[in-house]
Amino acid sequence: MAARTIIAALDVGTSTVQTVVAERARGEQELHILGVGIVPSQGIRRGAVVDLEEATAAIRASAEAASRAAGVPVTSVWLSVGGSQVSVSSSRGVIAVSRADGEISPEDVRRAIAAAETFVPRNPNKETLHIIPRDFKVDHESGVKDPVGMHGVRLEVDTLIIECSSPFLKNLIKCVEGAGLRVEDYVFGPLAAAEVALTKRQKELGVMLVDIGGGTASFIIFDEGMPVHAGVLPVGGMHITNDVAIGFRTHVDVAEAMKCTHGSCLPTLFTKKDNIRLAEFIPDESAVYSRRELAEMIEARLHDIFELLRKELKKIDRRHLLPAGVILTGGSSVLPGVVQATREEFGLPVEAGQLHMGDNLDERLTPSLAAACGVLAWANQHTTTSFSLFEEHSLRVRKSKVVRWLKSLLP
Ligand SMILES: Nc1ncnc2c1ncn2[C@@H]1O[C@H](COP(=O)(O)OP(=O)(O)OP(=O)(O)O)[C@@H](O)[C@H]1O
Ligand SMILES: [Mg+2]
Repeated sequence: MAARTIIAALDVGTSTVQTVVAERARGEQELHILGVGIVPSQGIRRGAVVDLEEATAAIRASAEAASRAAGVPVTSVWLSVGGSQVSVSSSRGVIAVSRADGEISPEDVRRAIAAAETFVPRNPNKETLHIIPRDFKVDHESGVKDPVGMHGVRLEVDTLIIECSSPFLKNLIKCVEGAGLRVEDYVFGPLAAAEVALTKRQKELGVMLVDIGGGTASFIIFDEGMPVHAGVLPVGGMHITNDVAIGFRTHVDVAEAMKCTHGSCLPTLFTKKDNIRLAEFIPDESAVYSRRELAEMIEARLHDIFELLRKELKKIDRRHLLPAGVILTGGSSVLPGVVQATREEFGLPVEAGQLHMGDNLDERLTPSLAAACGVLAWANQHTTTSFSLFEEHSLRVRKSKVVRWLKSLLP
């Protein structure tokens, strides 16, 4: 057995392509980050590949940068899947408990989940990423989290189905393989991000993770420890930048620099005297812009995102039922005032996400790395043996692997 296991995660975002490399020493459970490779994204729009060659080149550059930083070769990656091509639905499955004495076995749970999957409308253009049991009902008793070992006649499961467009996934994998990397497996980004940005207690209490990236804002909501809803909204930091470029009639690169250096989500903090000089970004230019107007444009776009999130919360009727509040990740979550603006909007506790690898808070990890680091944590769980049957189902990615994992768990 190797002295250490190397794991790499890749997140191909709309703004950045990130590879994070970590190692796990023999006999240890925890991962240690060895290196990060972040390059500007190319050929990606709203999380989806629109130019194979450009995207492949960006992925290769990111993996090479991470490999150099880590001092180890990167030959395979675990992939974060996001983008507006991801869709979420739910499905129920019911089975009769097989044992004569009525004790529910892991196999019953597997059959119930398989039954739920058969009710998902077959669509050759969609690939199921995850089928996550949210809740079980044993006979008339609902709200059961882990039914194995309980007694009953009928087992019902309510599942959250996360799917993505097959051509989208194929294109992404083609680019990764084109960059000389093997794809170990793939995970829905926010589900992975929750591994490192949310605590077990927050998930139990009820919490929403919102990752505001470049082209998208994605979210996942947990209640009683399980994901209950998730989605990807087609608005992100690039839209803010575009608004600024149009509003100030400047080049997008200047608008992006202005946003990142002087941006805020709280216009009331500024007076008419707070100005930004264009000369700061383009020498010899004399134009002057209002900092308050910049913040107004940012605030307006942020409100669009809030409005979409509010609709999603309404769908699950949990508008006021998230005691652990909202945790923000993604590159745009560093905008000054975003925590306060989100708190005022939702009337909930809001925090900027901090990423934990195992029990350690790693200060080097910025909120934009949430999905990539989450994928590492996810991969770590799957390359060690200590996960429960229940987790195993939630972590389902590919059928062949489900079967393999189940075999290792069943007597
Ligand atoms: N200091 C900053 N202030 C404001 N915005 C910032 C700052 N730094 C980065 N951003 C914004 O963060 C966004 C990129 O975030 P991130 O890297 O999480 O996106 P991504 O993962 O590539 O995109 P997506 O997840 O939507 O596909 C960009 O829009 C960028 O302008
Ligand atoms: Mg992202």
